[in-house]
Amino acid sequence: MARKIYRFLLFCFCASHVLEADTLYQGGDSLNSSSTLVSKNGLFTLGFTRVGSAESNASYLGIWYNNDTSHPFWLANRGKPIADNSGVLAIDGSGNMKLTYSGGDPVEFYSSQSSTTNITAILEDSGNFVLKDENSGSQQVLWQSFDFPTDTFLPGMKLGINNRTGQTWYLKSWLSDLVPTPAGAFTFEWDTYGKELVIKRRDVIYWTTGPLRSNSSFEIPFLDAAVLDFSYINDSNADEDYFMFKVSANEYASQGQRNFSMWQLGYDGTILDLTTSQAFGGPPCKGNNADAGCVRWSGPTCRSNSNSFELRSGYFVNTVPSKDDDNSSLSISDCRDICWKDCRCVGVPSRGNSANNTGC
Ligand SMILES: *[C@@H]1O[C@H](CO)[C@@H](O)[C@H](O)[C@H]1NC(C)=O
Ligand SMILES: *[C@@H]1O[C@H](CO)[C@@H](O)[C@H](O)[C@H]1NC(C)=O
Ligand SMILES: *[C@@H]1O[C@H](CO)[C@@H](O)[C@H](O)[C@H]1NC(C)=O
Ligand SMILES: *[C@@H]1O[C@H](CO)[C@@H](O)[C@H](O)[C@H]1NC(C)=O
Ligand SMILES: *[C@@H]1O[C@H](CO)[C@@H](O)[C@H](O)[C@H]1NC(C)=O
Ligand SMILES: *[C@@H]1O[C@H](CO)[C@@H](O)[C@H](O)[C@H]1NC(C)=O
Ligand SMILES: *[C@@H]1O[C@H](CO)[C@@H](O)[C@H](O)[C@H]1NC(C)=O
Ligand SMILES: *[C@@H]1O[C@H](CO)[C@@H](O)[C@H](O)[C@H]1NC(C)=O
Ligand SMILES: *[C@@H]1O[C@H](CO)[C@@H](O)[C@H](O)[C@H]1NC(C)=O
Ligand SMILES: *[C@@H]1O[C@H](CO)[C@@H](O)[C@H](O)[C@H]1NC(C)=O
Repeated sequence: MARKIYRFLLFCFCASHVLEADTLYQGGDSLNSSSTLVSKNGLFTLGFTRVGSAESNASYLGIWYNNDTSHPFWLANRGKPIADNSGVLAIDGSGNMKLTYSGGDPVEFYSSQSSTTNITAILEDSGNFVLKDENSGSQQVLWQSFDFPTDTFLPGMKLGINNRTGQTWYLKSWLSDLVPTPAGAFTFEWDTYGKELVIKRRDVIYWTTGPLRSNSSFEIPFLDAAVLDFSYINDSNADEDYFMFKVSANEYASQGQRNFSMWQLGYDGTILDLTTSQAFGGPPCKGNNADAGCVRWSGPTCRSNSNSFELRSGYFVNTVPSKDDDNSSLSISDCRDICWKDCRCVGVPSRGNSANNTGC
């Protein structure tokens, strides 16, 4: 009897504690650098975190998985780093959700059209941060983080297009492992005409699955489909054409990963499945390689033989300083491209030239 009561009390305490922490209320408490929202299942966290080189204090509002803050799968302000811990996310009394911080323009996510609202933002168990009006009855989604992906694709997210609203969903890589700005070299897209997934490098196709068959499920070449279930939907009623995936329950995976995976588009053009560690695209697509989905890198005739990039270590003399050395908007993949197209170039460093790993 005593044991039963004890269990009951403990359960109530935990439930109410967790319930509070996944929701932001209109006119209620705001989120700052000393607080976080945690999804009910405990797997996803929304909060402020530091990203970048050791010298930088750049802070971002992000969502991460399993307490791993090293590379949040979603960032709210990837192009506007916050220099200190002044960031605050709130839904104000008029129903606008925005991120404010000292020394910069706020990032606005949603502006309310109506004066009587009861808006809440919930970090759901899927990792989606969803804004709804509780009083609208329909529970219509006003805004959601899944509509604004950064470089990571989760089950339930879409890659594709909504023809009516003009909304497109695609991933954009970071510029380097330390710089999340949306100026990265690679995108990961669903090509609605070719019905294929593509990685593009500065708008040029770099890797492709090739056309995939049927409206519903299919296998993706190069990818073990044992745990992942892919589909594309041509929903002409909703004017949407998109690709998505879900994860079949996998009894061999650890708790929390049984129905979850993420595909992350790396700054080097790799798509990495974080659960199975399978990778495609990326550095293996070097120059003339056209295997495993890689698309040959176009270049001058001096590169039309069997040239490709290979990793070599050693000591190099007579390096010629170049205007690209300190250009902080160039990723290492841009450096390879510049080199590929210049017949005099014999190589580029394997990482960038600055503390941010950018430049050639
Ligand atoms: C965050 O908000 C709490 C409660 O309002 C406050 O006590 C705390 O000092 C704030 N932290 C920062 C870093 O501003
Ligand atoms: C996986 O399933 C469990 C049990 O149904 C659920 O609690 C958990 O939130 C799910 N995880 C994800 C990431 O959807
Ligand atoms: C980071 O913060 C520390 C301590 O506030 C400060 O001394 C340093 O100058 C900051 N660095 C940058 C790059 O802003
Ligand atoms: C994350 O860290 C918190 C606090 O250390 C811990 O209670 C929680 O179980 C961790 N969550 C996961 C998914 O590892
Ligand atoms: C907002 O919605 C919640 C959930 O439906 C409800 O409990 C609450 O009373 C509403 N608040 C106002 C001010 O309407
Ligand atoms: C989508 O489906 C509609 C109706 O089924 C069809 O007319 C249209 O051509 C399809 N679009 C594409 C891009 O396949
Ligand atoms: C594709 O799937 C969607 C959603 O299940 C459905 O609405 C649509 O009619 C299907 N299109 C075709 C051409 O079968
Ligand atoms: C979207 O628009 C394109 C180009 O106009 C068209 O080919 C395609 O069928 C449309 N898709 C849907 C789902 O309406
Ligand atoms: C740096 O690279 C970018 C992208 O190629 C280019 O637009 C810009 O002019 C370069 N800046 C300098 C100083 O060379
Ligand atoms: C490194 O990146 C940060 C944030 O993107 C930027 O503010 C800083 O100027 C960069 N530093 C260099 C040396 O490029």
